[in-house]
Amino acid sequence: MKGKFISIEGIDRCGKSTHAKLLGRWLRSQGYEVVLTDEPTDGAMGRVIKRALKGEIKVPTDIEALLFAADRVQHISNLILPALKDGKIVISERYVHSSLAYQSARGLPLDWIRKINKYAPRPDLTILIDVPTRAAFSRARSSELDEFEKNIALQESVRRSYLRIAKQDRLKVVKGSRPRDEVQADLRKLVSAVL
Ligand code: TMP
Repeated sequence: MKGKFISIEGIDRCGKSTHAKLLGRWLRSQGYEVVLTDEPTDGAMGRVIKRALKGEIKVPTDIEALLFAADRVQHISNLILPALKDGKIVISERYVHSSLAYQSARGLPLDWIRKINKYAPRPDLTILIDVPTRAAFSRARSSELDEFEKNIALQESVRRSYLRIAKQDRLKVVKGSRPRDEVQADLRKLVSAVL
């Protein structure tokens, strides 16, 4: 693979999107070709997942984990691998560690989630933006929130799962509740180290 694959993880509203966009802009200004992407995708599986997240359809937790994994298979083969083969830098907001953190917080065994995601290539770099749950949700209005986001206890448990798994998998953890420029500077250092 000629390109580089970076995934950005964290609880909802931790600032992933903002930082992914800023990273993308910075990398492009350095002459790199960048693909910004996210999961769940807008593909067939992703659309089902998004309906479930809005509460329009009810999906059991294990089936939901399989849907996220299936959506990922499409994401990898349709977008991630072709872009990496072309030498691009792929930045994905959410990837395997979202499944590990969220679906284990929703009660599924971590080993099983790892198994159904085994085919997924490991990113060159996975960054966890860690933000205390209350800080992440302090400005959110309840009408804007999806089913997972409404559940603060779930978000807290997702944060704990992320931090536990980050140790096991040696993810790079960046404290996200600091001024945006400081957080972004840390991310750029981490990215520079893998380029
Ligand atoms: P988003 O708000 O970042 O678009 O993500 C949608 C929700 O889906 C978010 O609450 C996290 C959740 N999610 C999982 O539970 N497992 C996964 O594998 C992924 C990619 C997302």
